[in-house]
Amino acid sequence: MPLNAKPILPRFGAECSGLDLTKPLSADEIRQVTDAMDTYGVCIYRDTGLTDEQHVAFSRNFGYLERVPVREGARMRLPLRELFDASNLTVDGEITTDVAAIQYRKGDRLWHTDSAFMEKRTSYSLLLAHQVPKEGGETWFADTRSAYEDLPQETKDFLEDKIGVNSLWWSRKMAGADIAEEEIDARFKARHPLVHVHRGSGRKTLFIAAHTMDIEGMPKEEGRALIRQLVEHCTQPQYTFSVKWNEGDLVIWDNLCSMHRGGDFDYEREKRDMRRTTVREGTEPHTLDLDDPFTKLFAETPKTVDIQRARVEGR
Ligand code: OGA
Ligand code: MN
Repeated sequence: MPLNAKPILPRFGAECSGLDLTKPLSADEIRQVTDAMDTYGVCIYRDTGLTDEQHVAFSRNFGYLERVPVREGARMRLPLRELFDASNLTVDGEITTDVAAIQYRKGDRLWHTDSAFMEKRTSYSLLLAHQVPKEGGETWFADTRSAYEDLPQETKDFLEDKIGVNSLWWSRKMAGADIAEEEIDARFKARHPLVHVHRGSGRKTLFIAAHTMDIEGMPKEEGRALIRQLVEHCTQPQYTFSVKWNEGDLVIWDNLCSMHRGGDFDYEREKRDMRRTTVREGTEPHTLDLDDPFTKLFAETPKTVDIQRARVEGR
């Protein structure tokens, strides 16, 4: 059966059915998945029945999978290094009470794109629900292509060729973490154009996120005000929708033409177990052994923004 994609907004988001993602897919089926992604930016596959291994195997069809940073002696909750842990759980599967871990996850409640703070960005993120709260815990998505297209021409002209400066620690600071700006300045930042042509669709899109700290060549205050304005513009109701999760649901989003954020839920009482693979932009399907910049980036990171260390020490 071919892939059936039912749009959520006219040009953004689709509920997809018709493919069994637990089985190896043919080249034609993979093409159907990427075509739907190019058109809609976010695709929802309900009740997939995917295991961790199948989740990773399916994700490899789209390129090199980023690996979770490793730390000597650290125990991991999840069995595969390609699985990023987006849960509120400790390594033993209990609800975490660690302030640093909670703080880190709060950053996900801001509108963002995954790994915008890395030199090589993430293209697809594939998030699979293993356990969901009774209430809340939805994920929100915003259409940065349509939002760009609707900007006044003079704003488009102004943004052309502007470069955004992106930092992981900036987004954590914005979410309330106690990090001095000097400390952020001393750490790695990634430069990405604020506007780029989305490869799969040829449509122009904004690339901004909670990680975007400054705009090169603009005074800090002005640049930050513009970033805030653009995020507000992109996240108006006509560009956004939310996904209510059930166990087994998989959502794939293209970070290069969307933003997302997590919704609230009772973090201290309800378990929410979400696992994510992320594809590095510009890599070929099934690429296996590339460098591992995440481990390096996190190696000298303050505990307030290091989920792995928080998990080990705050268990
Ligand atoms: C993520 C993320 C939000 C959520 O996994 O990248 O932002 O709702 N998740 O879990
Ligand atoms: Mn995210």
